[in-house]
Amino acid sequence: MTETLIFVLVLVAGVLVLRWLRPAWYWTAFGIVFAVTRVLLRYRPVMEACGLTVGPARWRLALARATRQDMPGPRSPRILRVRPTRTGLVLRLKMRPGQDAFDFSASADRLRHSFGMHGVVSREIRSGVVELAMTGFDVLRKVQMPAAERGTLRVPVALRDDGTVHYRDYRQVPHALNLGATQSGKSVYQRRLVAELAAQDVALVGIDCKQGVELAPLARRFSALADNPDDAAELLDALVERMADIYRIIRAEQRISADVPDAETTADIWGLPEHLRPVPIVLLVDEVAELALFTTKEEEKRRDRIITALVRLAQLGRAAGIYVEVCGQRFGSELGKGITMLRAQLTGRTAHRVNDEASAKMAFGDISPDAVLATIQIPEDRPGTAIAGDSSGGWVRTRTPFTSLRQAVAACNAHADRTPELAELAPFRPVLPPLKSAKLPAPATESAPAPA
Ligand SMILES: Nc1ncnc2c1ncn2[C@@H]1O[C@H](COP(=O)(O)OP(=O)(O)OP(=O)(O)O)[C@@H](O)[C@H]1O
Ligand SMILES: [Mg+2]
Repeated sequence: MTETLIFVLVLVAGVLVLRWLRPAWYWTAFGIVFAVTRVLLRYRPVMEACGLTVGPARWRLALARATRQDMPGPRSPRILRVRPTRTGLVLRLKMRPGQDAFDFSASADRLRHSFGMHGVVSREIRSGVVELAMTGFDVLRKVQMPAAERGTLRVPVALRDDGTVHYRDYRQVPHALNLGATQSGKSVYQRRLVAELAAQDVALVGIDCKQGVELAPLARRFSALADNPDDAAELLDALVERMADIYRIIRAEQRISADVPDAETTADIWGLPEHLRPVPIVLLVDEVAELALFTTKEEEKRRDRIITALVRLAQLGRAAGIYVEVCGQRFGSELGKGITMLRAQLTGRTAHRVNDEASAKMAFGDISPDAVLATIQIPEDRPGTAIAGDSSGGWVRTRTPFTSLRQAVAACNAHADRTPELAELAPFRPVLPPLKSAKLPAPATESAPAPA
């Protein structure tokens, strides 16, 4: 008897330790079964308590009255499917007449603690059907990226709080702004982007006014780098010139006549035949405010030149395959004229932890007040956590997996042979020492076998 008790106690303690140390394993081994049982057992009372039921049908009431039976109770939404996932459960529900998908998203927090889950997100997948995506544990505490598909200029960059992968898709959202206080994880996010893009056919161009401390170690995969505002101004002018050249190529190819099929007419580089298509460019700017600050008249002129070039690239670059990714601690009108215009061109928005509401508003003020609130609530002890949104008003909480500088350097060195040489940007090509040979050193002469 005592032995059984000890065995049970050890087992329970083991399960609790597993839950704390390896929540994903715990979820797969035990959590799913417990959660499905809990959700199905509590389903009706929870729906009723959350106000997600409707009254009984009239014919049922009439029937009950006619047969003098008990009145039927309220009806909950019908469960269409319960699907366990790697990190939680997905409950697909058929709404009852008169219900609204908004009722479910407004009750998400109540559902979360009533079902004992870590998070619940509701979305309407088609008319009358909502999906409750529930997470069983805090997936952002220790980020483990699931296997993710990669596409042309579409890279997995972070994990969302519902356990799915968050992608940075340059062809869908060409330009983006990444804001956050110091130590919030902006550069690690950017490093992750570089490490992922390194394996693709793309030219990386960097501007890092912290004397290149973040991007210079990754230089082998960069076609051009500028580490001070003077070089940045020249580099941006060269990029604008390249953009004009690409438009000339596209224009020359656009012989639209009645006998050219629709699929062969193009207004961007992706429609060009492969042998003519210029390599796409991702321009990464770290600490953008450094480019906008000035003290002398000369510096002011340089600043205006830089901001004008950035605005032109963000305005016209997409079709020429030039994508802009800007990182900074703040990016508001206090940085001078042209900044809000540039910000308006940056469709993708990512905000890491910020120190005040004004900074959060720089990312989301003109898009979504909820996202501003969520950004302010990011805790200090979770660097890499960010709110990612776009200009359509949607947003999601994400966290980037930690990518060390060493890992990013290894990825860049491994793909160094993919670095395209761009003639226009040749003056900015980083000068690099040759890679150390991986060959083993030749055996010492003393120990070499004597010739026969
Ligand atoms: N995704 C992450 N997971 C775990 N730790 C992280 C993550 N991102 C960043 N950190 C930690 O936070 C530190 C600061 O990150 P990072 O250099 O990216 O901040 P930053 O926002 O670029 O700061 P600054 O504005 O000063 O350059 C990193 O050295 C790392 O220790
Ligand atoms: Mg940084």
